Amino acid sequence: MKTIDILKSLTLEQKARLCVGMNFWMTQNFPEKGIPSLFMSDGPHGLRKQDLNASDHLGLNDSEPSVCYPTGSLAACSWDRDLIREMGNHLGQEASQLDVDILLGPAMNIKRSPLCGRNFEYYSEDPYLTGQLAAAFIQGVQSNGVSACPKHFVANNQETRRKAVDTLIDERTLREIYLAGFETAIKEGPSWSLMSSYNKVNGTYPAEHTHLISEIVRGEWGFAGALITDWGAMDQIAASIHAGLTLQMPGDDGTSARKLVRAVEKGEISEAELDQAVTALLFVIEKTRGRKKGEKHGEQYHEVAYQVASQSMILLKNESGILPLNPQKKIAVIGEMAKQPRFQGSGSSHVNVFRLVDAYSQIEKICPQLCYAPGYSDETTTPEMIAEAARIAKNCDQVVLFAGLPSSYEAESYDRQDMKMPQAHNDLIAAVAQANPEVVVVLSNGSPVEIPWLGQAKGLLEAYLGGEASGAAIADILFGRVNPSGKLAETFPVKLEDNPSYLNFPGEGDRVEYREGIFVGYRYYEKKKTRPAFAFGHGLSYTTYAYSDLKLEKSSLTDQEQLKVSFKVKNTGQKAGKEIIQLYVKNSDYQINRAVKELKEFAKISLAPGEEKEVAFVLGKRAFAYYDVSLQDWHVNSGDYEICIGAASDDIRLSAPVHVQSTQKIKLHITRNTLLLDILADPQLEEAFLPFYTQIKPYLPFNLNQKDLKTDKMARSMVNNMTLNSLASYVGRFLSDEELEKIIQILNNIQ
Ligand code: BGC
Repeated sequence: MKTIDILKSLTLEQKARLCVGMNFWMTQNFPEKGIPSLFMSDGPHGLRKQDLNASDHLGLNDSEPSVCYPTGSLAACSWDRDLIREMGNHLGQEASQLDVDILLGPAMNIKRSPLCGRNFEYYSEDPYLTGQLAAAFIQGVQSNGVSACPKHFVANNQETRRKAVDTLIDERTLREIYLAGFETAIKEGPSWSLMSSYNKVNGTYPAEHTHLISEIVRGEWGFAGALITDWGAMDQIAASIHAGLTLQMPGDDGTSARKLVRAVEKGEISEAELDQAVTALLFVIEKTRGRKKGEKHGEQYHEVAYQVASQSMILLKNESGILPLNPQKKIAVIGEMAKQPRFQGSGSSHVNVFRLVDAYSQIEKICPQLCYAPGYSDETTTPEMIAEAARIAKNCDQVVLFAGLPSSYEAESYDRQDMKMPQAHNDLIAAVAQANPEVVVVLSNGSPVEIPWLGQAKGLLEAYLGGEASGAAIADILFGRVNPSGKLAETFPVKLEDNPSYLNFPGEGDRVEYREGIFVGYRYYEKKKTRPAFAFGHGLSYTTYAYSDLKLEKSSLTDQEQLKVSFKVKNTGQKAGKEIIQLYVKNSDYQINRAVKELKEFAKISLAPGEEKEVAFVLGKRAFAYYDVSLQDWHVNSGDYEICIGAASDDIRLSAPVHVQSTQKIKLHITRNTLLLDILADPQLEEAFLPFYTQIKPYLPFNLNQKDLKTDKMARSMVNNMTLNSLASYVGRFLSDEELEKIIQILNNIQ
């Protein structure tokens, strides 16, 4: 049946019931009308399909055994669209096999603060990287006829008071940092569903936000799919349906549907608005109708989890080439996490794991001479445990020490208080490094930590939360069976106080102001010239790469044209490897407060030893644009930009200038209170204004051509900073009020 016919066949009450879940995970069905239920499950890095009789959204009750892939914080460090698409594809297959129609992921909020308790689920501090990876994930999931559901829309960047907090944020920041990733997910996924978040945005819950939903998501981005509330995020259902929401989850006892019927009967919302919501739900039903069924999942899924983990872990430090380790040597493995891995986070994304591989058992297979000491238990230790670990370290050639954040440190529904690792872990590392300086630390954590012992560890591997195969990936990287190729998708600041949100996180009471504006992550550290511990995009390899031959197709273009950029990358070392290449656009735009540079493209390429490849990117208008609030559009200021190609944000290898000419003029609305300097800055306005200016200049009470340059500068500045109104008052009868109005009219008309 066509949507229009289905709508005609439904009563008002039935339509209202379709806008509210039938139970914890399912939508309402009307089989006689050809409307099936849709089943939803978390989550972003593993399926969490629950029994309807034991449902929860906090990761408490059990779920079907499934593959646990690396969490978002690690997977993003692959910078590999194809790999993430493959991970999404396998998640989609598993969902389909378990009769799940909507997979609640990707989780793609921006990492504003390292303290956010759910950062482990999220991708990056950068909206471009976030959006690209989310779109790839969505494509993979949806290729199975299962809908993805990017979340949590939007500006949900903390867990503290998450259901009450009001995120106060300016429009430019919202567009450039917090909406941009979702925009890509909706347009390029294109995602069939979207989840609204718990927090308010500028005073209104996103589920009720007409500007966000109907104007931006549905209007500008053309989203036709289902907009679903986060679990329990519904406040006023009539207001939400009016704003463009589709579905309240989970279901209730019928109250919300009754409220909707009443709202239509009282004329508070129209039945047509309800029809729109039902149409969006039918859209997803239609898209998922052909869901591919398949074999029950098996070994191949574990292999994908391994691939994502081993292609994403980041070698942060490798002093004197301590890595890869030599399996012939006597190795001390220290740290409880080697045997009891921390491989996923807590909360709604918790996976009942299919199979789990710890690092110790994998290292044992590679290296015959192993010693082990736990060194700590969870977050505590004793002098005896530390002494035992130090003794073992001393008797071995090299040490691999596993440390990080215990699971209670970061989870859904609360934030961390600081960026510190447990003191027990820090003390252990210091004592072991003193006993044997040949130490490699492997970190398991969902988000950045302060690293006071950085100078004492020769090697540092960031494993984040690596999923069920993390142990194998770690062992293979440590012993050189896999050449590390992950790079950080977020900055590691030296200390929490360096982070841009530090003074305004998590806000006061129910208000959090994003006062750092667009300066999130590297955008801030670079602007402030604050050196981080590890920069955005950083990651080492067991081989080396040389970059050369940067070519820009043209040196000047308009904002309507595209720019082709090409260059070569060569593997100059002895090992095959994969290099992540990053393209940043550097702004020399003085009219607008912008980041020093922004990521605009990236690629990951494989290179055999000695092999060289050409890489090409094509940049469009958005690569140079900022969001102009007065235009309510993306805009490029005419000026000089620089194309920077790098191995990391702090390791730019090639650069070349390019001039971009704007084809869009921003009209200056002239009033009596417009400053002279704004008129004189625009050649067209200046030309029209000069005859009047020349006429009245002699009557100003100060001479603008002082011999003394200092005074002259001051006088000019004084005048330039005057409004037209004050200028008129200084020259009195030489510029009447009528004449001033006439000038204003002329200036407004010529633009
Ligand atoms: C989380 C969502 C999740 C939902 C359903 C909420 O607590 O914020 O990410 O999809 O529960 O489990």
